[in-house]
Amino acid sequence: MFAGDHTIDDSDLLRLSLCVPGLAQEATSRTLGYGHLYYGLIRMMQPEHVLVIGSGFGFAPAVMALALAHNGHGHLTFVDPSMDGARDGMNAAHGGQGSWDTPEATRARFACAGVPEGIITHYRETNHEFFSRYEQRNLPAIDLALIDGAHDEQNASYDLREVSQRLSLPAFVLMHDATHWLNRTGHMGVSRVLGRLRGRVEQVTFPGSAGLAVLRFTRNLGIEVAGLPPPSVVVPALAVFGAGLFAGWILSRWFR
Ligand SMILES: C[S@@+](CC[C@H](N)C(=O)[O-])C[C@H]1O[C@@H](n2cnc3c(N)ncnc32)[C@H](O)[C@@H]1O
Repeated sequence: MFAGDHTIDDSDLLRLSLCVPGLAQEATSRTLGYGHLYYGLIRMMQPEHVLVIGSGFGFAPAVMALALAHNGHGHLTFVDPSMDGARDGMNAAHGGQGSWDTPEATRARFACAGVPEGIITHYRETNHEFFSRYEQRNLPAIDLALIDGAHDEQNASYDLREVSQRLSLPAFVLMHDATHWLNRTGHMGVSRVLGRLRGRVEQVTFPGSAGLAVLRFTRNLGIEVAGLPPPSVVVPALAVFGAGLFAGWILSRWFR
C-alpha cells in the first residue's frame, strides 16, 4: 500500500472507466460521479473496514479500495455471488454480469483498475450466506458500507438490518438505486426501505439515473426485514403492450 499525497488523477479516471465501468454511477472518463462521494467519504472518515454488497463491474469497490490505498490503511470486504442476468435469468433488480466467477477474473479486474493487491477480499456468496458466516470468520465491525446487491425490498431491508447491527457507530451506510424507476414498479424496494427510515436516521439522496442515498447511523435502530412484495404487473403489462403494437405493425404491413 502507498500512503501520502496521492489522489485520483486523469489516468486513474481513464483506467477506472475502461476496467470497471460504473452501472448508473454517473461516472465517465472525466468524472467519478458517485465515486467522488465514495472516495471523499473514505479519505475523510479514514475507515478500517469497508463493506460492499453487490457490484456489476466493480466500479464502487475499486474506487473505495483506491481511497483506502491512498489513506495507507484499511480493508474492503466485497460480497457478490457473481450472478449473470442472462445466464441466471435474473431481473434488473438482482442481475449482474458474472464478473466475479473466479478469483483470477476478480483479481485481474481490480488490478486493471489500479487497485493494489491485498486491499479487497471477495466472497462469492449471497448476502444471506455471507452474514450467516460473519462472526464465525471473526470479521471486524463495519465503518462504512455500500449496499448495491439484490434490490428488492426484502433483500434491501435484510442487508440494511445485517449491516446496521455490525456498524462501528457512528457510521455511514450508502444505498445505491435509491430512486431508480424500478422502485415504482415494485421490482426494487430501496426507496420503500428508505421511506420507513425517514425521521429515524439522517439521510440525503443524491440524484442521478439510479440515486444514491447516504445514511448516518448513530445507534442501532432495529431495522425490520420486509416480507416478499406481491408480484408486479407493470413490466409484464408493458411487454404485452409492446408485443401488441409490434403485431399490429406487422399485420398492417401484411394487409397493405
Ligand atoms: C445490478 S448489479 C449492481 C449494479 C451496480 N449498480 C453497479 O454499479 O455495478 C447487482 C449485483 O448484485 C449481486 N447480487 C445479486 N443478488 C445478490 C445477493 N443476494 N447478495 C449479494 N449480491 C447479490 C449481483 O451478482 C450483481 O453483481
